[in-house]
Amino acid sequence: MNIPLIDPFARAINYLRVSVTDRCDFRCVYCMSENMSFLPKAELLTLEELDRMCSVFVGMGVEKLRITGGEPLVRKGIMTFFESMTRHLESGALKELTLTTNGSQLRKYAAALAACGVRRINVSLDTLDDAKFTQVTRWGRLAQVLDGITAAKEAGLRVKINVVALKGFNESELFSITDWCAREGHDLTFIEVMPMGDLGNEDRLDQYWSLKDLRARLRERFTVTELTERTGGPARYVRLEETGQKIGFITPLTHNFCESCNRVRLTCTGELYMCLGQEDMADLRAPLRASGDNAVLEQAIRAAILRKPKGHDFDYSRQKVDGQMTRHMSHTGG
Ligand code: GTP
Ligand code: 5AD
Ligand code: SF4
Repeated sequence: MNIPLIDPFARAINYLRVSVTDRCDFRCVYCMSENMSFLPKAELLTLEELDRMCSVFVGMGVEKLRITGGEPLVRKGIMTFFESMTRHLESGALKELTLTTNGSQLRKYAAALAACGVRRINVSLDTLDDAKFTQVTRWGRLAQVLDGITAAKEAGLRVKINVVALKGFNESELFSITDWCAREGHDLTFIEVMPMGDLGNEDRLDQYWSLKDLRARLRERFTVTELTERTGGPARYVRLEETGQKIGFITPLTHNFCESCNRVRLTCTGELYMCLGQEDMADLRAPLRASGDNAVLEQAIRAAILRKPKGHDFDYSRQKVDGQMTRHMSHTGG
């Protein structure tokens, strides 16, 4: 089956994000509520099933595999899965095997990840202030994450720091975070906060700091050059000429990047979400389990891709939150 995966809007799907667990050792305010109920372990795809699922996608043209969560590194036995994905890098079918992590377990796993062929990782880190870090992650400890990032560097992994831009929270740290990344040699990406999850007391409009404003602030201090290079994700990049560092912007609110969307998301129970910002999903666990022959699964995947919507409907421009998803970000791994 070598026909590439093409959606109804002629977009080629070559990027699969796989959430291997909905659990996390943090409780970031924009991602989870404090009292989350997690899926019973019996609902999860086994590591062998995840392997089969991902291998089928790779066979259908997926070249970039990003492992997410929850926090992917808290899934028991996850290194076995990374090790088994190495064969797709070695065969040349997979161009990139990577993960998005909160960094808490990197001291333990960075070297093993590098040995599996992981070259760069994205680490979520919204502040360099101890107290604020605890405020935003509820359960996290900054020192542990910084130590994890150091371990990643020692293991030869390239690190990209993901910062969710939060008004009144990390606005004051724009330059200190930028300087820190320049000093440490990390790439840096800012993300606009999306209306996902049971918002409860959270007010996204209050939290929302548009990257248009953030960019304008950067220009007060730096010469900003637009770059055409892409990493296969939604970020658009610039270079700060004074430091030479690369900064990415993920702008689901101020600039919709859906026209170039190349990705779908698999959850840890085998649901395939064709868009982060829509409810529709396809169950792939049933076809996976229905037959040892991959044809049934492949057919289900092709049918799902044909339902991929044009894009999300997130919108704050009318001074209210439109397009909200009640699903938590941890369900699909961002
Ligand atoms: P790179 O390979 O470094 O380009 O990674 P990436 O940006 O694809 O992945 P990462 O896990 O770092 O995602 C960063 C942020 O982008 C997360 O908050 C994701 O939710 C968001 N994001 C990724 N893809 C999409 C998308 O298709 N739609 C929307 N709205 N947000 C997305
Ligand atoms: N809006 C924007 N980004 C979010 N993330 C989690 N929840 C949200 C949200 N509501 C980010 C995390 C991580 C990435 C996978 O998604 O910080 O970097
Ligand atoms: Fe965990 Fe990441 Fe969600 Fe924070 S954003 S609670 S680190 S999954």
